[in-house]
Amino acid sequence: MELKNKVAVVTGGANGIGRALCRKFAAEGARAVVVADLDADGAGRVAAEIGGLAVPTDVSLESEVFHLVEKASSAFGQIDLFCSNAGIVMDGGAEVSDSNWQRIIGINLMAHIYAARAVLPAMLARGAGYLLQTISAAGLLTSIGSAPYSVSKHGALAFAEWLSITYGDAGIKVSALCPQGVRTNMFPKFLESDGEFLREGALEPEQVADVVVTGLAKEQFLILPHPQVAEYLQRKASDYDRWIRGMRRLRDKVHPRNPGKA
Ligand SMILES: NC(=O)c1ccc[n+]([C@@H]2O[C@H](COP(=O)([O-])OP(=O)(O)OC[C@H]3O[C@@H](n4cnc5c(N)ncnc54)[C@H](O)[C@@H]3O)[C@@H](O)[C@H]2O)c1
Repeated sequence: MELKNKVAVVTGGANGIGRALCRKFAAEGARAVVVADLDADGAGRVAAEIGGLAVPTDVSLESEVFHLVEKASSAFGQIDLFCSNAGIVMDGGAEVSDSNWQRIIGINLMAHIYAARAVLPAMLARGAGYLLQTISAAGLLTSIGSAPYSVSKHGALAFAEWLSITYGDAGIKVSALCPQGVRTNMFPKFLESDGEFLREGALEPEQVADVVVTGLAKEQFLILPHPQVAEYLQRKASDYDRWIRGMRRLRDKVHPRNPGKA
């Protein structure tokens, strides 16, 4: 899909990767870019900069995602591309409180489900539409410092695959964006929880946005701004036990006080 004359909605559009996507889509000639974010001021700033529409939205609430879709559709007639990009990260494992597990699953997973519920009927009626899901390399591999992040991103990837399998022949395109380190507000948290190794090869959000536009043009399911992730995925698939042993060694380096060895 080319962006020219298209209507795009980007959640988490106020900062980081989402903001870079908004700017890039506008530069590519999108007819309209809708900037949705919990950070209403940030969304307003990005929208003002690119001549877009800001819609303050909490993507973990279905009613707000429906409101966003209704606002974008009534302002611009239709939504060609919906980017579910908003996300959060938190450290920890099974001990993380239920309310925090529910919070991250609400934002990193349920938001994609709410978006599909809201946009698919009109897209299916037209026989065309595109869903871009910002997931993470952690959805294909893992995040060693965060079970909630890994689980929510694996779930989001499973949902993206399912959507593509189920609706691909009905004209619905789906891409899963799975970057490793990207220098955004979230990045210092990843360095702390997953390791300094992410610093090498970390990308700027603008570089990710360039790769996204190329991936959308090719209508690729998996968009990998860090090509090495494809190699890690192959290693995982070809020898799962060896991959897990390697990840344990990495975990030991990053978190020497491994609770599994206490
Ligand atoms: N930065 C990285 O290294 C990295 C790597 C892989 C994947 N990702 C993913 O990229 C996406 C974007 O993250 P980023 O790196 O640009 O981080 P960021 O923190 O710069 O941006 C995230 C945006 O999401 C918004 N947001 C958070 N909760 C929200 C909610 N409930 N409703 C609406 N908006 C909400 C925030 O206000 C913020 O503007 C996330 O899904 C993240 O998991 C990031």
